[in-house]
Amino acid sequence: MDSIVVKGGQPLSGQIKIAGAKNAALTLMPATLLSEEPLTLTNAPRLSDIKTMTALLQSLGVEVTAMKDGNVQVLSSHALTSTTADYDIVRKMRASNLVLGPLLARHHQAVVSLPGGCAIGARPMDIHVTALEALGAEIELKDGYLHAVAKGGLKGAKVPLRFASVGATENVLMAATLAKGITVIENAAREPEIVDLAKCLRTMGAQIEGEGTSTITVEGVDRLGAASHAVVTDRIELGTYMLAPVFAGGEVECLGGRLDLVESFVEKLDAAGVSVTQTQAGLKVSRANGRAKAVDVTTEVFPGFPTDLQAQMMAMLCTAEGTSVLEEKIFENRFMHAPELVRMGAQIEVHGGTATVHGVERLKGAPVMATDLRASVSLILAGLAAEGETIVSRVYHLDRGYEHVEEKLSAVGAQIERVTG
Ligand code: UD1
Repeated sequence: MDSIVVKGGQPLSGQIKIAGAKNAALTLMPATLLSEEPLTLTNAPRLSDIKTMTALLQSLGVEVTAMKDGNVQVLSSHALTSTTADYDIVRKMRASNLVLGPLLARHHQAVVSLPGGCAIGARPMDIHVTALEALGAEIELKDGYLHAVAKGGLKGAKVPLRFASVGATENVLMAATLAKGITVIENAAREPEIVDLAKCLRTMGAQIEGEGTSTITVEGVDRLGAASHAVVTDRIELGTYMLAPVFAGGEVECLGGRLDLVESFVEKLDAAGVSVTQTQAGLKVSRANGRAKAVDVTTEVFPGFPTDLQAQMMAMLCTAEGTSVLEEKIFENRFMHAPELVRMGAQIEVHGGTATVHGVERLKGAPVMATDLRASVSLILAGLAAEGETIVSRVYHLDRGYEHVEEKLSAVGAQIERVTG
């Protein structure tokens, strides 16, 4: 298993190009199931999660052609051979559940294994199921699989979500595009990836209004057509690399970065004394001399502080001046990086969904273990600031969400390498 070795203490300088969003690509790819005509995605990230989604779609009969080293994906669902998403693929990644809505909408049936994914909580599917049932689907759980049918097709309806789930909003939004009549999704998630999905679906011919707000209205159409769509910038990769100079010192410009994607995050950086400026090409971050200041952070649904940046922020606060309190409100088991950071000399107390971080002057390099995608990258960031060598093992989680992390960081001056084995 590969590991990443980081030697701390090198200030960074230069530019990092931010990739297309993993979480947007993972919902845009299954949108191909809604149409017989091809969907072309540009600015697609090159990640193992994308390969998993490709394998899942191929198992349904979708033709997937990757060009430009995977940066461009052409997907065609003109001849589907299956409507079953098998456990062997789905267990690798929770986002596999995003084939459910489109399969039901166009093929009136789907059998989808209950998903796996990061070990960061129970992550049930009840909101997806209730929402699709509101559109007329009948869904049963048998042998670990959701068996869904929509006899005569889905019908538009009012769909209130009990919580603004990202995946459930995406599933029902895709399903509603081909349902008969009007669907109103209430308490919809507002994440930029949903806005991106709606934009792509509209190019395919869907009638959608209100994405980016908590009420999305969809008027069903008979068929969707071809489209070409550029995947939105990955705001989580952006936030992660924006933190790199805060750990290591120096200045980094994140190309493709936009303030509107990371507003709540930038507010916290500002409070911590970190300077962020919008440039023509992206966002520039630098750390003035001295330590960052402690700040309290609560994760929320968008536009609140993203749970996917909580681990990285915690790592940063480990060496901030003062005591910070982090509250995790989206997932119940998402502080698995805390004991690893403690191995590096951090002072963190975790009680349920709250972590209290007492800033220390310096972290010290140590062998640590990545336990989920964002936890792994938080340990790499911590390594950039630590005295000596940090060895992050089990980095296969990292490859699910960050393309070429060691190349991107070494290009701006970090001492980092991947050791294969
Ligand atoms: C998506 C993102 C993930 C991010 C998360 C929250 C993708 C591929 N993944 O995940 O990176 O961390 O949003 O921003 O886009 N829940 C239920 N029942 C359901 C669905 C969800 O109880 O039917 C709960 C989950 O257990 C969790 C919370 O709702 O506690 C958030 O889940 P959700 O917004 O659905 O996240 P995902 O779409 O899985």
